[in-house]
Amino acid sequence: MKIGIFDSGVGGLTVAKEIKNLLPNQPIIYFGDTARTPYGTKSRETLLTYAKEDASFLLAQGAGLIVIACHSAASTATDVLKQSLDVPVFEVVTPSINQALALTRSRRIGLIGTRATVSSGIYEQKIGALEPQARVIGQPCPLLVPLVEEGWLNARETRMIVKKYLRPLKQQKIDTLVLGCTHYPLLKKMIQEKIGKRTAVVDPSLEVARAVKKYLLENGFVSNGREQDKYFVSDIGPATEDIVRRFMGRKIELVKV
Ligand code: DGL
Repeated sequence: MKIGIFDSGVGGLTVAKEIKNLLPNQPIIYFGDTARTPYGTKSRETLLTYAKEDASFLLAQGAGLIVIACHSAASTATDVLKQSLDVPVFEVVTPSINQALALTRSRRIGLIGTRATVSSGIYEQKIGALEPQARVIGQPCPLLVPLVEEGWLNARETRMIVKKYLRPLKQQKIDTLVLGCTHYPLLKKMIQEKIGKRTAVVDPSLEVARAVKKYLLENGFVSNGREQDKYFVSDIGPATEDIVRRFMGRKIELVKV
């Protein structure tokens, strides 16, 4: 079974990479909507339209399962895609919520992400349904995506901005923090340092990869073939290939559609 993964751009490669780590022989089809990125600043209506188009593209390429790697899209479009598609839909929000609830003791959970993700209210809704005593403290961090794409992963300026974004979450005494954006795993070490070692950090790219692997194993869909992975993007700009290399740690061939 081919795994179709979509994202607003190249950030979802953090998810593709974890899936390949756990399922090295499973063919993936990736679609990054680089022509219309960012999604994190878009309205719910626009995100719904984009997410439906992205998923349709992957299905047309033969995907048997869809992974919404983009948190902004997953926060707004999961229910609609689950209702309208005939294939299983996985996404980054649900497994992260399960992991956050498993880890928290104080039931004070921090969420960092784009404005679209934090303002969607999906974490409050889903966590509230499972654990009414839990509290979600959300913090949009819009500057982090461009900093990661610029490769400022260890820059002093990035450190200062991360610290500033995390300060309100520390003041609220969270004990668990969800990295609710495709780009944040690249800043995981810095974020862990700034939030403090007593706060558990949830990396959704790992959680969704585990969920996909569990499903494939349980249903006998794990491949051992050598089918080629395909990486599609809707635009290749001057920096796209460099950013891709930063995310994947190697060069990959992009096909523009
Ligand atoms: N992929 C997006 C997300 O995880 C971040 C980049 C964007 O805003 O498009 O929310």
